[in-house]
Amino acid sequence: MSADEKLNTQSRRSFLLLIPITILGGMFASVASAAFRFLRPRIVNESAETWSDVAQLSELTGQSPLLKKINIDHVTGWALTKQEHQVYVLPNRDNQVLSAICPHEGCEVAWEQDSKRFSCPCHESYFSADGARLTGPARRGLDPLPRRVQDGKLQVQFQSFENNATEQIKRA
Ligand code: FES
Repeated sequence: MSADEKLNTQSRRSFLLLIPITILGGMFASVASAAFRFLRPRIVNESAETWSDVAQLSELTGQSPLLKKINIDHVTGWALTKQEHQVYVLPNRDNQVLSAICPHEGCEVAWEQDSKRFSCPCHESYFSADGARLTGPARRGLDPLPRRVQDGKLQVQFQSFENNATEQIKRA
């Protein structure tokens, strides 16, 4: 075999070896890319404004707080779950929205129509009709939530705050 023929044979072998390496490399890149997309944690932009519908404005009438339920998407790692939260709308106060979560230890407060106050069933904190603290172990009033009107609907930005603090401290 001449020197030229040997060189051609070696080049052909090298080329043939490159084909499976290229195919395997492509397959590995595809699998790695799919695995990365599946396994990486979803990125939650905490500062992103998420507005939830509360009710049509036309439903928000009367002098008493109205209990409403909203659904919020919660993202933990790459798991997405829906959670229901309760809020109170105050139609006689320009539809202000209060969180129903007691700022003491996080139980849900209830509106007492007879005594015209909110009460917490867990440790007997009481709050006035505008959410201000009256008595009990809670150290602040009910938490007001950001609200807006969009297409005839009241919307709220649900937030939760640290328990047992005198000030509203937003949870991270
Ligand atoms: Fe409401 Fe304790 S959780 S008073």
